[in-house]
Amino acid sequence: MQVVKEPADVLNPAHYANCRLSADVAATLPAWCYTSQAFYEREREEIFLKTWNCVGHQSRVPEPGTYFAFDFVGVPVVVARAEDGQIRAFVNACRHRGGEVAPAGEGECKLFKCPYHAWSFSLSGELVATPFYDESDVFKKADHGLKPIKLELWAGFMWINFDETSADLHSYLGDLPQRVARWNADDMIVASRSSYNIATNWKQYYENFSDPYHVPFVHKSTLSKNKPVSKRELHDPSKYIGNYVMHRAWFDGTRGVAPGEPTFPEIPLPEEDRGAFYPWIYPNAGMGFMVDSMFMVEMYPEGPDNTRIERSFLVPKAYKDLPDFDGMIVNYLRGMDVVHHEDIEILEMQQRSVKSPVYMTGRFARMDKLVHDCQNWVLDRVIGPAPQA
Ligand code: FES
Ligand SMILES: [Fe+2]
Repeated sequence: MQVVKEPADVLNPAHYANCRLSADVAATLPAWCYTSQAFYEREREEIFLKTWNCVGHQSRVPEPGTYFAFDFVGVPVVVARAEDGQIRAFVNACRHRGGEVAPAGEGECKLFKCPYHAWSFSLSGELVATPFYDESDVFKKADHGLKPIKLELWAGFMWINFDETSADLHSYLGDLPQRVARWNADDMIVASRSSYNIATNWKQYYENFSDPYHVPFVHKSTLSKNKPVSKRELHDPSKYIGNYVMHRAWFDGTRGVAPGEPTFPEIPLPEEDRGAFYPWIYPNAGMGFMVDSMFMVEMYPEGPDNTRIERSFLVPKAYKDLPDFDGMIVNYLRGMDVVHHEDIEILEMQQRSVKSPVYMTGRFARMDKLVHDCQNWVLDRVIGPAPQA
């Protein structure tokens, strides 16, 4: 049996020629794309540090003085709402000698004080105090504020981009905001935020999201059993414009709870928007728009072998006044959690398999052809655009 090793020239396009063919004849990505440190580092540089990434709902920083600090692909980041009400993102690294000015997690404060030598920064990033070290001709506080990261809002969520030269978020999203405007996401509240650590490469999760092929099998006793799908639509790049890949399934009502459990009222939607609409916004954000709710999954890659997922579940604000709102939310969360764990089990199993030294590449069936789009989106950025046919 042939042992497959990561090549020394892992970024050489010649290794991916078979992946660049059309979906009906293409090979899936080689195993090392899911395990290689070198491939991961290139993804970090060419994908995650150059695109718009979702980092949660704006309600994570509800008041001036609130913040959260976290790791994004190895970069310490802090997001804060300052006294002026604005939300801003910064590299969470002191401009003296690199201490993290905000402790990891969520909190509230008036200033970020570095734990190392107590340089202090306002929540809008200005350096305001440097103990035992005064300004002079060669040192001005104004030159040493926290390094800002671009941050914009859409659908109530915060999106960051490390690339100062990048186009604005709305150009990046293309026609997506207009397509989902009927859900009125700005008027929704986050009913829950759940975190999952998955022992798999980020691409396994990202590919699975746009793969309806697995649903009748992996979710046979949940999604598929509760609400059979009458019709599906897979992304067509001539119809959907923007940095996302979508699929849609039509079925009756909601799949959020088990049959017989009470359901939330339905959002008034035309026939074409019923069922569920699932856009994955490249590279880290998956959304689901349903008849009674929506969700957002943010993805945080943590090296080639681990991925953290944060999932927010949202409903229209007015539902808060329903009798037994809390009890209904518990039912919806239970349903989503079961489905999520069905996926996690498969993804961790798949990662174990691709790590095998004899793993061979596979093929795409018609129903998972969007996985081919997802893989080629990554290759376009990691090794450069595909050769013209
Ligand atoms: S590293 Fe922050 S004050 Fe020295
Ligand atoms: Fe799934």
